[in-house]
Amino acid sequence: MWCWPASGLRCFCARTVYALSNVCRHQGGPLGEGRIVDGCLTCPWHGYQYRVEDGCSPPPFTEVVSTYAVKVIGGEIYVSGEPLARGKNPRARVSG
Ligand code: FES
Repeated sequence: MWCWPASGLRCFCARTVYALSNVCRHQGGPLGEGRIVDGCLTCPWHGYQYRVEDGCSPPPFTEVVSTYAVKVIGGEIYVSGEPLARGKNPRARVSG
């Protein structure tokens, strides 16, 4: 997994790329410094979690962070500057 900052976003890549807001809904923690645990991006400050699939906290929690459309073209990753509608899936597959 790796991440990098781009206009306040952090992107995560394993075999799939996701783009989520870097700002935790709790107290603004840096989500890009968190870890993915059981499919959830986990904030390094107090442990709030967000599913990488859609940016929603797992039940019973209701917090949501913005997600962004991602495309992988010719080995380069492109992230939309506009957030997706709540709960939309931001992933893009990495080939090769
Ligand atoms: S700031 Fe993220 S859990 Fe508190």
